[in-house]
Amino acid sequence: MCGIVAYVGQKDAYPILINGLRRLEYRGYDSAGVALLTDQINLYKCRGKVADLEEYIADKNTGGTIGIAHTRWATHGEPNDENAHPHFSRDRDIALIHNGIIENYAVLKKELVSRGYVFQSNTDTEVLVHLIEDIRENENVELDEAVRIALTQVEGTYAIVVISKNHPDSLIAARNGSPLVIGVGEGEYYVASDGAPLVEYTKNVIYLDNEDIAYISLKDDIKIKSINNIERTPYIDQLEMSITQLEKGGFEHFMLKEIYEQPKSIADSMRGRLNVAKEIVSLGGIIEYEEKMLNAPRFTMVACGTSWHACLVGEYIFEELVRIPVEVEYASEFRYRNPIINEKDIVIAISQSGETADTLAAIGLAKENGATVIGICNVVGSSIARATHAGSYTHAGPEIGVASTKAFTAQVTLLLLMALSLAKKKGTISRSRYHEIIIALENIPRQIEEVLSHEKLIKEIADRFSDAKNFLYLGRGYNFPVALEGALKLKEISYIHAEGYPAAEMKHGPIALIDEEMPVVVIATNKGTYDKVVSNIQEVKARKGKIIAIVTKGDETVKSLADYVIEIPETEEMLVPLLATVPLQLLSYHIALNRGCNVDQPRNLAKSVTVE
Ligand code: F6R
Repeated sequence: MCGIVAYVGQKDAYPILINGLRRLEYRGYDSAGVALLTDQINLYKCRGKVADLEEYIADKNTGGTIGIAHTRWATHGEPNDENAHPHFSRDRDIALIHNGIIENYAVLKKELVSRGYVFQSNTDTEVLVHLIEDIRENENVELDEAVRIALTQVEGTYAIVVISKNHPDSLIAARNGSPLVIGVGEGEYYVASDGAPLVEYTKNVIYLDNEDIAYISLKDDIKIKSINNIERTPYIDQLEMSITQLEKGGFEHFMLKEIYEQPKSIADSMRGRLNVAKEIVSLGGIIEYEEKMLNAPRFTMVACGTSWHACLVGEYIFEELVRIPVEVEYASEFRYRNPIINEKDIVIAISQSGETADTLAAIGLAKENGATVIGICNVVGSSIARATHAGSYTHAGPEIGVASTKAFTAQVTLLLLMALSLAKKKGTISRSRYHEIIIALENIPRQIEEVLSHEKLIKEIADRFSDAKNFLYLGRGYNFPVALEGALKLKEISYIHAEGYPAAEMKHGPIALIDEEMPVVVIATNKGTYDKVVSNIQEVKARKGKIIAIVTKGDETVKSLADYVIEIPETEEMLVPLLATVPLQLLSYHIALNRGCNVDQPRNLAKSVTVE
């Protein structure tokens, strides 16, 4: 969602803030703003991207060694100059940035309006800054206490940073539900939504917990108190991130870089966890919980979007290998129905960002019902990683392109490792089968290199279909989630309508859509239900649909039927999603590029969805 960055120290704040916003822009990009403190607060904000803000500020006073900055993904109020953050208090003494949603803002706003406050924007955020000012004046308290009292009146989620003209060496930062991390430098402090803006300045970080308020002052260091005024000692963590991971490294887009990183990111996901020579698969993060997992009556996997597709692959893998029933739930549905979950259940929550609000809420619900929650997250120290009982990081490295690519294949890899480890302990896999799968898994990074070498062909296919209005993606078994993921990638970055379907379901409706204009992507690899998928291809062909098939290297049958084929190397059936997803990512990328779309920052989307 929105991105927050703040600085207090001896250096010029503006370059640090702008640089930080650029690194956070993937979180939201409909407007941006900055407030810098000198003898007054200079506040600049506008609709558009960080580059638009820079242009707007070019001739303005950017002095000051303390400041806050924000890049927005609109929730309340359209993206325009007024609704951009920061927001001022009435007396312009306080400026505030916010990520999250103030759910009771309408009630608070009504009250404030009745007391004479005039709102400049339609945001929920502006309520908070006026509320702080109101409390400070009417209750005659200092700013820090006014912030604390205001937050006790707020329902919803927030990460905020506040500066005030009267406190020229201080930042006040607080979180509840939206992430915030403090970077600790030499006589300087940074605050940001994630580690990306901090990494080039410091690796020492403090992750704020929910309901923490951090009072950061150059004179008095950092004090962290809960919203109920209970002090806690700040714990300094080390940021696991490097600058090169945050740059495009010669690629035109982050998405393309991240697609090409998959051989490495999958190898990183397996590092130290898969030892083929010794036939060991071991995930340190869950070892203590494996016994409990093996005794569970079932697993429930919860996630959103692409991570939910990884869960679907996980369902097939777990049921095949571990022989424990798996249910896959959209976190947003799970949290609002009344699911039957109890203390014997294992809930596996999957999230790249580790901040998705619905997934976090689903975890909360599962824990309330006594279930054990295992996390699979990419972002180290994220809210979901901290909310789960145990878990494993995917170690795919920062994913900046809004469309998820390497995170998906890393999630599937982790699910495979988890299932293999459990299956071996449970005795539901023979030694030879176990051996075959781990050898195949070890080969995957090299095989992805091979798939990537087909980019030229994939680009040619993209050139042919860039003007299509609709796409259909079909797959069966392990390839059904691949079809869903291929369709999602296409819609989100190229804005072409696309649907993913289990191939056999085509006859129950979507077949009516097929005509000579309709490109149909079929994942038709040579295992499982291959023959049935070949029949489905015949059905599409009979209706003149254009077939783009993902096939196993050397396949002749599908080649004779399809208009285009993209070959992937032979592997175990359950590992096919790791290979078959890659050409679909490239196909979407090139179609979106041909259509002039902003591949890394597609319209209306944000990288981490911290609002429900
Ligand atoms: C699709 C995409 C989204 C995310 C979803 C969940 O490319 O990026 O569908 O997968 O918002 O996000 P995480 O995995 O961060 O919980």
